[in-house]
Amino acid sequence: MAGRGLARLRQAGIAVELGVGASEARRDHFGHILRVTIGRPMVTLKLALTADGYAAGDEHDPRLAITGEAANSAVQVMRSLHDAVMVGLGTACEDDPLLTVRLPGVAQKPLRVVLDSALQLPMGSRLVATAREFPTVVVATTAAPAEREAALAAKGVETTRVAADPTGGVDLGAALARLGKRGVTRVFSEGGPRVGSRLIALGLADEVALFSAVKPLGRPGHPALDPAAYAALADLARYRPLAPETYGTDALRRWRRVG
Ligand SMILES: NC(=O)c1ccc[n+]([C@@H]2O[C@H](COP(=O)([O-])OP(=O)(O)OC[C@H]3O[C@@H](n4cnc5c(N)ncnc54)[C@H](OP(=O)(O)O)[C@@H]3O)[C@@H](O)[C@H]2O)c1
Repeated sequence: MAGRGLARLRQAGIAVELGVGASEARRDHFGHILRVTIGRPMVTLKLALTADGYAAGDEHDPRLAITGEAANSAVQVMRSLHDAVMVGLGTACEDDPLLTVRLPGVAQKPLRVVLDSALQLPMGSRLVATAREFPTVVVATTAAPAEREAALAAKGVETTRVAADPTGGVDLGAALARLGKRGVTRVFSEGGPRVGSRLIALGLADEVALFSAVKPLGRPGHPALDPAAYAALADLARYRPLAPETYGTDALRRWRRVG
């Protein structure tokens, strides 16, 4: 109607109210809006932590099952509502995750993304082994060795390179922009602590979801987030807390980035 629709409806005697549900609509389409306005998808950062704040045990501890069944099912639903699931190399190596949606009747296959500056993703990992069935992209820096790229490609793993950040890691803004270019609008970051803390530090974590268990680890482990990330979440100028939720015995705290 080239902008004349409202006037025509009103001329025809139809009451027209503008802005009904505007904030909900903006929230529902936030990934698309960010992609078309600033060129990157929206990011939801999810982590599970023990009552004493750890996302994992010490270096050689076995993988922790932190949350219960209800929270784990909620995470599967959250995963299914995103078109990419992203982890850092630490999580890919230590947890050997599949990052697939495992919900009855749901056939969605979000793009699996690994942030891996030097292309060190183990060839024997489950991510590599299942890459022909579940689309998988490794984001490396321009300095990563070319041979690794060919070996991963032979297994069906796509690689893409972006600039390094000042620490030598993958430039997260550039990585997200790359995902945005290929049509991704919603990224679910599932780990780990290092990637999560960086996303918050850079203002790239649009939503943060922390599932807290009642059980403490009871010994020093791998903190879920660094102190600067917690400070950002507590800063009302940066994050707005949402109403807490409960899944079984686990608590879910959520925040939305301001701005
Ligand atoms: N409880 C939970 O919710 C949860 C979730 C996930 C993982 N975990 C646990 O967390 C532990 C792994 O922790 P982590 O912090 O090492 O894992 P991570 O955040 O998944 O991976 C960190 C690695 O990602 C790579 N990376 C590339 N670009 C990066 C960037 N810009 N910023 C940060 N990292 C970048 C780096 O390796 P390169 O320099 O080699 O690229 C870095 O060492 C495991 O024990 C796992 O079990 C817990």
